[in-house]
Amino acid sequence: MKEKVALVTGATRGIGKAIAERLAQEGMCLALNGRNEENLKKVAEELKGKTEVFISPGDLSEREVPEQVVREAVAHFGGLDVLINNAGVALSRSLEETTLEEWEYQMAVNARAPFLLCRAALPYLRRSSVPTIINISSVVGSKGYVHQGAYTASKHALMGFTKVLARELHGEGIRVHVISPGGVATDLVATMRPDIPPETLIAPEEIAEIVWFLLTHRGNAVIDEINVRRISNEPWR
Ligand SMILES: NC(=O)c1ccc[n+]([C@@H]2O[C@H](COP(=O)([O-])OP(=O)(O)OC[C@H]3O[C@@H](n4cnc5c(N)ncnc54)[C@H](OP(=O)(O)O)[C@@H]3O)[C@@H](O)[C@H]2O)c1
Repeated sequence: MKEKVALVTGATRGIGKAIAERLAQEGMCLALNGRNEENLKKVAEELKGKTEVFISPGDLSEREVPEQVVREAVAHFGGLDVLINNAGVALSRSLEETTLEEWEYQMAVNARAPFLLCRAALPYLRRSSVPTIINISSVVGSKGYVHQGAYTASKHALMGFTKVLARELHGEGIRVHVISPGGVATDLVATMRPDIPPETLIAPEEIAEIVWFLLTHRGNAVIDEINVRRISNEPWR
């Protein structure tokens, strides 16, 4: 994986930043996206000396941005080997109180953008010797939690297209995985679920470690999905 190129979305903080740090540690070249350019620059600065980092700020809810982010990464590095669709947004609302704009925004960032990023990345991944897509879904990609209706719908959509893509690309040797975490200690969960005891949350670095496992795992095992639950006194959840 050394000097292979990975595009990581949502890399300014949380899980995406931890993934960027993990891949940088292994000498992968990184194209990083997020909305906040200042924070992206800070992450790039932190990783300086470990690897080459290119930043591509942009709001993935805008239709043209996903393709632009792939184009910029490829123009900079001359290719693309790994796509990690991590950027995501979640709003805590009952479905009745969810506005059309809130519904569409979460669908755009969590489902439409990964679809557009995958589609734009494929011609370049086909030229790679280690072509891999990893989509970060959620426990709500298969379950339904109250006050997370639009978020849940968007992650179900992400799961749905990821399952199909994995099968459509299998014959070409392009690996497509999805990781579905429970509560991870990031800003997102602090806002959505302040009731969860922080000591029971998964560390972002644990998800980054699973990404690294998926990137380096070789063999005949096809891994579609990795479900990750946090420690809980409600093990049935
Ligand atoms: N935390 C959890 O408990 C948990 C559980 C399951 C799944 N997940 C999933 O894990 C992924 C990362 O979540 P996180 O917990 O690390 O969240 P986070 O700390 O809130 O970070 C979200 C990241 O996504 C970026 N982002 C948000 N909206 C964007 C947009 N419109 N365009 C471009 N970038 C955007 C943010 O960039 P800016 O900083 O520039 O805004 C930030 O880098 C998400 O897909 C989330 O659904 C999280």
